[in-house]
Order: sequence, then C-alpha cells, then structure tokens
Amino acid sequence: MEQLTFYRDTWIEIDLDSIYNNVKNICKHVPENTEVIAVVKANGYGHGALQVAEEALTAGASSLAVAFMDEALALRHRGITAPILVLGITRPQDVDLAVSHDITLTACSAEWLHAAKQHKKTKRPVCLHVKLDTGMGRIGIREMGELKEFISCLDEGIFDVEGVYTHFATADELDTSYFEEQYQTFRTMLAWIEAEGIQPRKVHCANSATLLRFKDKLFNAVRSGIIMYGLTPSVEMNSLIPIEKKPAFSLHSRIAHIKKISKGDTVGYGATYQAEAEEWIGTIPIGYADGWLRKLQDFSVLVNGKRVPVVGRICMDQCMIRLTEKVPVGTLVTLIGKQGDTEVSAEEVASYLETINYEVVCLFSSRVPRVYIQKGAVVEIVNHLAP
Ligand SMILES: Cc1ncc(COP(=O)(O)O)c(C=O)c1O
Repeated sequence: MEQLTFYRDTWIEIDLDSIYNNVKNICKHVPENTEVIAVVKANGYGHGALQVAEEALTAGASSLAVAFMDEALALRHRGITAPILVLGITRPQDVDLAVSHDITLTACSAEWLHAAKQHKKTKRPVCLHVKLDTGMGRIGIREMGELKEFISCLDEGIFDVEGVYTHFATADELDTSYFEEQYQTFRTMLAWIEAEGIQPRKVHCANSATLLRFKDKLFNAVRSGIIMYGLTPSVEMNSLIPIEKKPAFSLHSRIAHIKKISKGDTVGYGATYQAEAEEWIGTIPIGYADGWLRKLQDFSVLVNGKRVPVVGRICMDQCMIRLTEKVPVGTLVTLIGKQGDTEVSAEEVASYLETINYEVVCLFSSRVPRVYIQKGAVVEIVNHLAP
C-alpha cells in the first residue's frame, strides 16, 4: 500500500466502497454465470486503474479490459494476475510480450494475423478475442469475405480464439432500432464463426448501457465501464438504471486566500469580472492544468453546503470564487461531489462543458493526487509528483 502525502490543497477522493457496491450490484443484476469484465482503461476512467481493478475483482468481476498494452503491463507490474483483455489494436511485433505477460489481445484482420505470425517466437499461443464491427465503424471485421480470410489464417498452436465480441454505438439511446440491427448482425456473424468450427469460450457485446437495459442479450460476458464508477451511460438513461449505484469520484480543494474587494474591482486575467458591490473573493489552488477547464468560468462549486460561482477567468493553477461571507482560509470547497444534501455531479459539469460524464472524470491530470477511502478512512494516497 502506497502511503504518500501531498502539499497542495486540491485532491480527488475515490470511495472504494462505492466501486465495490456498484460492481456487486452489477454482478447481481446480470444472469447467473455471466462473467463481468471490469473496464479500467484510461486509468480506470480517471479513478486509478489498479485500485479500481482490485476492488472490482474483490466484488465479483473476473477479468479486466484496458485500451492498450502499456495499460495492461502497468497492471501486471503492480501484481494483478486476473485475465486482461486489450480492447485496441496491438502492434503485431508485441505479441510475444503479450504472451509472456498473459495478456489477451484483440484481433480483427487477416493482415494482423499474418504479421503477428512473423513476429511470434514463443511456443504458447496468443490468446485472442476477435472483434466484429457490427456498426460501430471503429475496429473489427465487417464482411463475410474478411471473416473467411481471417479464419483461414488462424493457425492452431499459434492463436487461441478465446473470445468474440462487438461494441454497440447507440445502446444508451432511447431509440433502440440501430442497436437491434447491430445485435442481429452480431448473431449472424457469430453463426458464421461457429459454422467454420470455431467455438469461442467467451462471447460479449454489452457495455454498461447494454447490460443494464438488455438482460436477455448478454451472451456469457459483459464489459462494464461507466456504471461501475457509479455514473450513468447517458442523460437519456437517467431514469432507466435498474440497479443501485453511487458515484465514487469527488473533487475537492480548500480556500487558500480570501479578500474583500470593492465595487468596480476586477478579478483575474483580462479583468473580465467586475464586482458590483463589496464582495468576498476566495482563491482556490486548482486550474486548467489540473483539468478544471477555463470553460468552467461562472460554473458553481460548493462551500459550506451552498453553491457559489467561479468568477473571472480560470488560471493554470488557481481560480477565484465569490463567497457569500468571510470564511476561514482552509475551508473545504467541493467542485464535484456532495456537501450535505447539495451536489455538483460529474453529469452537471459535463452538461456545462457540453460533453459527457466519461470525459469529465478522465480530464483530471496526474498532478491531482488521488485519495482512496474505504469504510470512511483513507487507505491510500497516490501522488504522482511524490519523489
Ligand atoms: C470496447 C469497449 N467495451 C466496453 C466499454 C465500456 O463502456 P461503458 O463505459 O459505457 O460501460 C468501452 C468504453 O468505451 C469500450 O470501448
């Protein structure tokens, strides 16, 4: 367990019990014997890949998925032994590295299989999940001809096709017609594969939206991302979440400096904010270099359970807020999360930034320490700036 500290009053809190309970609820929700693959790419959606992986595996997930090889290796080097699937395309020259670290790769072209064969020196087969592009238009096999050629290159002993999967483009939208089309295409393609004599042991198509909404379409594994973090897959789905979930992520700072300004005084670069009367202005040590983007000017944060506005332009490392009264230096400011019954959610930040909650939690840079909480106590601090 890393026990470090940090010296700037800005931090992200990750409530590990929320991750644990969310994963437990996902496991209970999906049909029996459905494998839950915890998606921990992008540093566990900004929450910390290792910590989320450990919690998810303890709660009932049986494997992990990441975006690329380095993310998988980072988990292996930190002691994770559960199966890890790389969802993106890996360079064919890195297949031996994958084999030696027990990392499962995604494959989706005959060309890749040919190249991988050239580079493979180790005896053990490369564990593969075949990606089918049923309409996402990102990576995957799309046509019968392509699939036939792919299958003809699957030399036994070199490749082990453990899984087949696809990814939906619109599972989180109210109109399910495109989802249904993709689902039917996946079934047809699966039938082709099976007709060629390949019997994948794992078949998966579900992201969070799919596993929550289409319980009868899950095959034998699901890839759970955003819902595991306690966040909703889309605004449209807000009222369609059949399980209990709680966000694990919150962002906090403290008042570093406070001053009274007079009517007409200005605040920040460009002097864009001008006080209309006598006002208390607090400065907090968080700025756009941390992920608190300039576009969040005029958004609100919580102080003593009340919303107060961010005033003036947000600087690289600091920003200013207008307080209703003088408060002591060191007063807690919550930028994402709850104070009492008042909440600023990642969804609200996303809406203000005209983006999605996924992007919000991924925004915060490694210079913001992550504080891990379990049963109300700090169990770990990760500060990437620590020597
Ligand atoms: C291939 C794939 N599977 C699963 C997921 C998890 O999706 P979600 O976070 O919506 O559950 C992602 C996320 O982007 C993905 O790219």
